[in-house]
Amino acid sequence: MLSIFLLGFCAYALAGPLQQPLTDFPSRQLHGRFLHITDFHPDRLYKQGTSIDRSCHRGKGPSGYFGAEGTDCDAPLSLIDETFRWIEDNLKDEIDFVIWTGDSARHDNDERLPRTADEILDLNTYLSQKWVSMFSENRASSIAKLSVPVIPTFGNNDIMPHNIFDEGPNKWTKRFSEIWNAFIPEDQRHTFVLGGWFTTEVVPGRLAVISLNTMYFFDSNSAVDGCKAKSEPGYEHMEWLRAQLKILRSRNMKAILMGHVPPAHSSEKQNWDETCWQKYALWVHQYRDVVVGTLYGHMNIDHFFMQDSHEVGIAASADEQMSINSKSDYLESLRSQWSSLPSPPAGFFEELDSELEAGGVFDTTVKKGKKEKKKEKKKQKFLDKIGGPWAERYSVSLVSPSLVPNYFPSLRVVDYNISGVEVTNQPVSWYEAHTASDLDSTSLDTPEASEDPVEIEKKKKKGKKGKKPDFKVPDGPSSTAPPGPAYSNQPFTFLGYTQYYANITRIQEEIDENQTEDPRLNFEVEYTTNDDVYQMKDLTVRSFFQLAGRIADEDAQPDTSSTADWFAKKKKPMNMIWRAFLRRAFVGYEDIDHLD
Ligand SMILES: *[C@@H]1O[C@H](CO)[C@@H](O)[C@H](O)[C@H]1NC(C)=O
Ligand SMILES: *[C@@H]1O[C@H](CO)[C@@H](O)[C@H](O)[C@H]1NC(C)=O
Ligand SMILES: *[C@@H]1O[C@H](CO)[C@@H](O)[C@H](O)[C@H]1NC(C)=O
Repeated sequence: MLSIFLLGFCAYALAGPLQQPLTDFPSRQLHGRFLHITDFHPDRLYKQGTSIDRSCHRGKGPSGYFGAEGTDCDAPLSLIDETFRWIEDNLKDEIDFVIWTGDSARHDNDERLPRTADEILDLNTYLSQKWVSMFSENRASSIAKLSVPVIPTFGNNDIMPHNIFDEGPNKWTKRFSEIWNAFIPEDQRHTFVLGGWFTTEVVPGRLAVISLNTMYFFDSNSAVDGCKAKSEPGYEHMEWLRAQLKILRSRNMKAILMGHVPPAHSSEKQNWDETCWQKYALWVHQYRDVVVGTLYGHMNIDHFFMQDSHEVGIAASADEQMSINSKSDYLESLRSQWSSLPSPPAGFFEELDSELEAGGVFDTTVKKGKKEKKKEKKKQKFLDKIGGPWAERYSVSLVSPSLVPNYFPSLRVVDYNISGVEVTNQPVSWYEAHTASDLDSTSLDTPEASEDPVEIEKKKKKGKKGKKPDFKVPDGPSSTAPPGPAYSNQPFTFLGYTQYYANITRIQEEIDENQTEDPRLNFEVEYTTNDDVYQMKDLTVRSFFQLAGRIADEDAQPDTSSTADWFAKKKKPMNMIWRAFLRRAFVGYEDIDHLD
């Protein structure tokens, strides 16, 4: 007893709170859960009771205390503050990391009150400091650490003018490297200043999160031009991503990819430059043993889509603002993609599951009767089409709806498999705790040192051009490698998620009735992926493949009637799973009967 006490005392006396070596972090219990939150769009100019046609900044109108749901108004700070309060009270001690996918400033949608660069930085600083104060330990010293890693990324509204992001290093990558000081690991700062992308090991030696700068892939960014030419930052970004995935494979690690603008690629919507999309789809396929999943925001609607590694080139428009109806057209176009997915022989997946569970290989070569043989042949043909028993031909992108109440404010908690990885060393790097005044003192409008050594290096690199861009296809997994966590349930596989929303229409009614002085915001469960409708036993690609098939199927019905209340109004029989998908896309806000 005494010796333990002395040991502890000596360790403290020797190391002290500031000189603690980096390897000496206390071990941390993992919870198998993380938060994905996106598109906060805080707006200090928001005023309650103003017109939704004037960005909720002025005029008389119905804008509410926590926001104007179902409109293009941005989020009042009351919504931001209460969301952080709710996360602190309800999730803080249950999550392992935070995926924060950008757009942390208001839109530039008010001609009378145009945004300024300092306003964008201020709003981003405001949100960053909320995370820091929620998760920081040891705040008293100038060196602090976060108990939970937070991984940010650039949104198209975190820069000015919006969508336009020049190659790095630039004033934005430099300023955000300061604002996100607590989130970007020390050894990644240089990379971040160059391109605005970085990697964080959220479970050291096991799981990394790769924060992509999707601004370089975004079709609406007219300052850059795709991923084909070596001189383009998108090209460099893809090269970096390939190298990261290669290194992670060699270290036997897994990776979550995240970014703001998702690689939507349907007949109605294409967000990325085609040359970026092609590389991305190929990288994700070739590193399918490494990539756990991919998480995006930006579109504000809750949905997923699949990349088909066989497919190249469906061009579509990349217009910025999508109306409700064009959003539902987009969702329709996904459904129509899914309706041409290969369809399995009856009972196929159930049979496959039980064979795989029994440890058996799905063997289609065993000698059998003629009829059996024909059946087996059909099964094999189907498997060949989808890339084997784990549907490895495909990959999935998940898009979370926004916090800003375009519909209702929403956030997502993802469960992932931590079997065998329950305890880890504290992963988060120490950071210098800036005070608000530190950050405020450096304004964007400060003239830049023009001959930055990094800049010179880049200029030199750009000078030697001429060679044709080579599009090297990365090596795939070794032929003996087992399927990755996106394909078969294993450590780090996403198991499911819970979508939360706050019904601020109802909360506003309560505020008006109660005359509440200091109203609270509560998020409630909208749905879970393993509910009666989606019935997903995990979030592997094959589970999404099956769900996509059910959404596309003309007469699929959920097995139970628990959702009958909102299906009751239907005029003619229709696919209830498709209906649920549509309803969930708009966070339960839109009356989807009026969309058709
Ligand atoms: C996690 O993966 C392991 C295989 O590594 C599996 O046995 C286990 O059932 C999975 N856990 C959950 C909750 O699905
Ligand atoms: C939100 O609250 C309003 C008002 O109480 C109610 O009419 C509506 O059905 C609720 N919507 C959801 C999705 O909870
Ligand atoms: C309004 O009052 C009711 C009944 O006392 C309570 O349940 C509800 O939480 C209150 N709402 C708010 C927003 O304070």
